[in-house]
Amino acid sequence: MTEISDETRFLHAIEMGLGAMQWGDRAIWQYGREYGVEEVGQAFRASLDAGVRFVDTAELYGNGLSERLLGRFLQETDQPALIATKFFPWPWRFSKQAPLRALRGSLARVGVERIDLYQIHWPNPLIGSDRLMDGLAECVKAGLTRTVGVSNYGHARMLAAYSALERNGVPLAANQVHYSLLNRTVEKDGILARCNELGIRMIAYCPLERGMLTGKYTPENPPAGRRASKYAKFLASVQPLLKYMTQVGQDHGGKSCAQVALNWTICKGAMPIPGAKNAAQAEQNAGALGWRLTDEEVARLDFASDAIAMPTMTAH
Ligand SMILES: NC(=O)c1ccc[n+]([C@@H]2O[C@H](COP(=O)([O-])OP(=O)(O)OC[C@H]3O[C@@H](n4cnc5c(N)ncnc54)[C@H](OP(=O)(O)O)[C@@H]3O)[C@@H](O)[C@H]2O)c1
Repeated sequence: MTEISDETRFLHAIEMGLGAMQWGDRAIWQYGREYGVEEVGQAFRASLDAGVRFVDTAELYGNGLSERLLGRFLQETDQPALIATKFFPWPWRFSKQAPLRALRGSLARVGVERIDLYQIHWPNPLIGSDRLMDGLAECVKAGLTRTVGVSNYGHARMLAAYSALERNGVPLAANQVHYSLLNRTVEKDGILARCNELGIRMIAYCPLERGMLTGKYTPENPPAGRRASKYAKFLASVQPLLKYMTQVGQDHGGKSCAQVALNWTICKGAMPIPGAKNAAQAEQNAGALGWRLTDEEVARLDFASDAIAMPTMTAH
């Protein structure tokens, strides 16, 4: 394993974060219908109270509303939080200054002078890695973010980003990717191992596979909305895995399937950032901390997950 740089060490010390895509998103998550500002504010405070202090948002989430809500919640608490947000590389945002300009917008919405991690949300081959990384390096040099990272970057793109940033004297701090017991692409194609080798923190999004790993959805009770078209037909094949997760949870004093799923991610060496719509979900997810699955349980969970043929969602 490569020496972790001083600038990025804090990220490796964070076991779990909180995803804030739910804060304002109507397309997938039905914000404003099923739940609203009160509930997500409570999820934020419950996370802080439980020691989960790293919040992942993006300028894209709720078209800026997630960042604005985070700003409002930060003003209402004395507790410190670490903030990660993301730049979306629209094709017209091709200049080297684009990330810096966009980050200033994010800072204004969150109401802070500096964040902890600024990530490129998706690669855009039309813009090119070097220009995007030069733009990220500008953000660090301007003192507007402590570290920078990428998201949804495959192996080759991640290495190119690592080298481009290195030329600017800036470490690639993180790669945020889809990683769960139902999507182990990054583990199987070697990205996770390469991250560990290079001291890049892997941040796992959708660690609960959008709720499917919590055990509350079944073929008889599928999720509503857009998630149904993606997942409903696989719910029957996920049940044996969930049955084993329930058993493992019981062996650890009554841990839930969600807690087992998140603990598995931590055991794999990645930082899960589960989204939570309310305090109960946030509190339960925080209960994934403070204990550990055994190596044998992790191996058995891997085995049970291998039996499920679910197409992966991430484009690398
Ligand atoms: N970089 C990227 O391209 C990218 C893409 C996606 C997400 N992300 C980030 O990753 C974060 C996490 O991913 P995600 O939110 O899409 O998926 P997720 O964390 O796998 O699932 C979150 C959903 O699961 C349900 N849930 C959460 N905790 C629960 C609990 N304890 N018990 C029962 N249900 C629970 C909730 O939905 P219901 O109650 O409706 O079931 C919640 O909205 C996002 O918030 C975002 O910050 C990044």
